[in-house]
This record gives sequence, C-alpha cells and structure tokens, in this order.
Amino acid sequence: MLQPRSFPFSAAVFFGLVILLLLYTPRSNILRDYSAHILHSYSKMEMTHHVEDVSNSTLGFQKIFAVGLPERSDKRDALALISSLTGFKVDWVDGVKGESIPDKALPYGVDRVQLWENNLGSWRGHLNAVRNIVEQGITTALIVEDDVDWDVRLMSQLQIIAHGTQALQGLHTPLDDQDIILDSPYGNNWDLLWLGHCGEVFPENLPENFSKQPGDPISRKFVVHADPTVPPPQHTHGFQNFTAEPHTRWVHVTGGPICTFAYALSLSGARKVLYDLSVDHLVGPFDNALAGLCRWGRDEERLDMKCLSVTPPVFVHHKAKGRVQADSDIQGYGGDGEVRSEGYTENVVWSARDNIRELMLGKDMKSQFRDTEVV
Ligand SMILES: *[C@@H]1O[C@H](CO)[C@@H](O)[C@H](O)[C@H]1NC(C)=O
Ligand SMILES: *[C@@H]1O[C@H](CO)[C@@H](O)[C@H](O)[C@H]1NC(C)=O
Ligand SMILES: *[C@@H]1O[C@H](CO)[C@@H](O)[C@H](O)[C@H]1NC(C)=O
Repeated sequence: MLQPRSFPFSAAVFFGLVILLLLYTPRSNILRDYSAHILHSYSKMEMTHHVEDVSNSTLGFQKIFAVGLPERSDKRDALALISSLTGFKVDWVDGVKGESIPDKALPYGVDRVQLWENNLGSWRGHLNAVRNIVEQGITTALIVEDDVDWDVRLMSQLQIIAHGTQALQGLHTPLDDQDIILDSPYGNNWDLLWLGHCGEVFPENLPENFSKQPGDPISRKFVVHADPTVPPPQHTHGFQNFTAEPHTRWVHVTGGPICTFAYALSLSGARKVLYDLSVDHLVGPFDNALAGLCRWGRDEERLDMKCLSVTPPVFVHHKAKGRVQADSDIQGYGGDGEVRSEGYTENVVWSARDNIRELMLGKDMKSQFRDTEVV
C-alpha cells in the first residue's frame, strides 16, 4: 500500500545528506563474511537449526498477513495466485480508508492535515495486522502489502537469510551447537525483520553513528556473494555501491529503511510497534515511524528494539501492467490515464508476477533483465 513515494518529507533531506557524506567517506572495510562456503549454491545444503522450516506454507513464520483494501480485488487475485504458485498461504487483513478513522481514535501527535488521509489509512491497515499478532499471541508473523512481488526462488533466498539472521544473533557458526532449540528458524532474539523496502543505508553510516569504531556490533553483516537472485549492478537499486559489490546481498542491522513492502514481527516486536506507533504516539507516515522505532528505539533504555534488514530486499512493490493510476491508493499517480503495457518489479530477477504462466506450465523462468547475463 505504501508506495516508493517521491521521497517523503524529512527522509529526502536526510538521505541526501547521508549520500553526500557517503561519497566523502572512505569505504570502511569491516564487512564480516560468515558465508562463502555455504552460500555458493542454491542446491541442498547442510541445514542447522531447522532452517529448512522456512520452506513451509507460512515461510517459517507462524502466520502471513497481507494488508489491502477489500475492494481491490485485482490485487487480491494476483497475490493469491503468486503466493499459491510459490508455495505459501496468506491471510488477509482489510486495509482502511483514512477518512473512516475519527479524530478521537488518532494517536497523540498526529497532524491529520500534514499526514494526509491516505497515509493514515495505510497506518491503520498495518496496525490492525499488528494488533492481530498481539491479540492472538502469534509468535512470529510476516506482514506484506498487497502489491508485493518476489523472485520465484524465494524459499531458497529465505533459507540463506535465516542463516544470516541466526548468525547476527550470535547463534552459530555453521554446524556447531546442534542442540540449541529455536522457536523460529530465523532465531529467537529479534523484534523485526525488514525483508521488503525501497532502500536503506547501513546503520554505521547514519550521522549519529559516525563515531562508532570499525567492528562495532551495529556494523556486523552476513554477506551473500555471487547471489544469482541479485540483478546486475546497473539494474540494482538502493543506497549501496552495487558496482563495487555486484550480485551481493547483505543481512544487517537495520539503519533506516523507506517503505514497508514486507516485514516480519515477533510477538515482542508487535507489542513494541503497537505501543510506539499507536498507544504512545505517532509521528509521520507508517514507514518513517517504523524506521524511527528501529533506529531510535534500539537503546535498551528506550525499547530495546532489535531490527534486522535484508539489502537489496527480497520483497518489492510490483508496478502492474494496466492503468498507472491503479498502483496506489495512497498517491495519485498517472492521473492522465497513462497505461503501462508491461509489469515491472525493481531488484527482482525472476519475478513471480512476470512468470505466472511459466510457473503454471512448468516452463523456463524469464529474467526481467534479458539484456544482461545474470552471473
Ligand atoms: C512453519 O514453520 C514455523 C516455524 O517452525 C511454524 O511456527 C509454523 O507453524 C509452520 N507453519 C505451518 C503451516 O506448519
Ligand atoms: C547510534 O549510536 C547511538 C549512540 O550509541 C545509539 O543510541 C543508536 O542506537 C545508534 N544507532 C544505530 C542506528 O545504530
Ligand atoms: C562504486 O564503485 C565503483 C567500482 O569500485 C567505482 O568506480 C565508483 O566510483 C563507485 N561509486 C561511488 C558513487 O562511490
């Protein structure tokens, strides 16, 4: 529901600054590589700590919720089809129109005029999903927006990502400690996993953390090299230098992402979100507020919020073919009746939405980047 806005408010200024600073900062050489020997292939690997659970019908979470307005049957049809073809199942949570939320229900700090009705609706749709998790005591859930897309190799990607999130929680060097019991294949000690966003900077590159020493725990990374599901550098979008590190994906501590295409919450994470983005207050659009919770809520004295991200992300907003205006219920693009003849998804090589026929008929997948050899 939230679109890659043409850079919201303060975020534009902020990322502008960060990018300038990055250009003038020598690259720190502190990436830690846990992965090279296990990640060379997408074929069967030796699994520790039931990472294979991410291949079940809820992608290793207890539930998957998709948030969308009930009247957008077009988006529900498409998402039902591609999730079914990829092998997982979503439960719908109805999106909300901003106008339907009375002033009395608004959190402390909301300026209705500045925030816009549409952002308010998006916030409420997401918060309804979050409240579901809290009310039902769901241990972990993935929340996706109704227009997401992914690579048809999602299950393999998530297995590698689960290795990464476990490693960042200090859970294993591969193959040791077989007897640790994990409730979640992604590890037990996280609040939020940001799997779908429009881009983000690494936390050590945020202005408040420039003083951190190289090797500080916030700059830990799990690096996936030679990942065939990362597009060629000229087609990879984000704030990292993908030319310097082609076909690389990182699992890392969250910096400050934009857009909430897909994120997972543990029960404790869902409680923190419900508190910090509703019961306590709300400042700004949902994605900015959620990024703010990860960024500023990290300290133990605040909310001890533990967020991890994947960059480039594995869930991305799909721009469907058809009327451009239909992309978003938040932003009014394409008011002139513009029509797109081919769908497109940034940062995804074998787009599930672009390969529906191929998936159904068991044919070879087609790449979105046919002009360029992939790995
Ligand atoms: C998938 O695995 C997760 C983690 O082990 C579990 O919580 C969830 O219940 C499983 N889903 C199904 C449908 O069995
Ligand atoms: C940056 O450093 C400050 C001070 O140590 C800390 O409170 C904050 O959580 C850090 N931010 C990030 C994104 O790591
Ligand atoms: C990105 O990396 C390439 C190759 O190392 C380099 O030529 C280029 O200047 C870098 N771009 C930026 C913006 O740092």
